[in-house]
Amino acid sequence: MGVSGYSLRPATAGDAGFLTDMLVAAVNWDPAREPIGRDRVLAERRTAHYVEGWPRPGDLGVIAVEAGGRPVGAAWLRLFGPDDPGYGFVSEGVPELSVGVLPSWRGGGVGRALLTEVVRRAAERGFTRICLSVERSNRARRLYATEGFTTVESGPDSDTMIMILPAR
Ligand SMILES: CC(C)(COP(=O)(O)OP(=O)(O)OC[C@H]1O[C@@H](n2cnc3c(N)ncnc32)[C@H](O)[C@@H]1OP(=O)(O)O)[C@@H](O)C(=O)NCCC(=O)NCCS
Repeated sequence: MGVSGYSLRPATAGDAGFLTDMLVAAVNWDPAREPIGRDRVLAERRTAHYVEGWPRPGDLGVIAVEAGGRPVGAAWLRLFGPDDPGYGFVSEGVPELSVGVLPSWRGGGVGRALLTEVVRRAAERGFTRICLSVERSNRARRLYATEGFTTVESGPDSDTMIMILPAR
């Protein structure tokens, strides 16, 4: 069953704080693990670089907002280079996806709607592929697979997945 009462809008410079919240949520996706605090997420380059300096040229994001305008979820894309790769890096020019939804809004279709919209905007902008990294035991993996991402590389616990975008 889908949740209602939300809408999607492009992410702006004012969303940097919320994107950080969603990055922290994504890092801490597994409730069985000791949570990693926001300060540590921002202190470590390999996690901080998903939001650092937002927005950077090439960044693209979508925010889900509830009726009063409060953000409840986000999906965003950022380009990385081989000198500073994200976990899901495949090659230069292929942006990496991050996604997070507030806990009370999960399981109602917001994540899938965000993903569909960010993919649509990425294709519109001329990107031909999107990549991501997901731990194999994260339920989000199923979301990606059902939206058309395929695994291109498997590590011990995580997969790198890519989606080929429809031509404009
Ligand atoms: C992953 C996440 C963004 C999905 O958003 P959502 O709004 O809960 O997703 P939807 O309701 O659109 O459901 C889509 C799929 O996501 C997965 N999903 C649903 N609820 C979920 C939850 N509570 N946690 C993780 N994945 C979930 C399922 O595969 C679901 O598909 P299904 O209903 O066919 O099984 C969200 O659950 C979340 O923020 N999780 C924590 C952060 C995270 O894991 N980010 C991704 C890191 S790679």
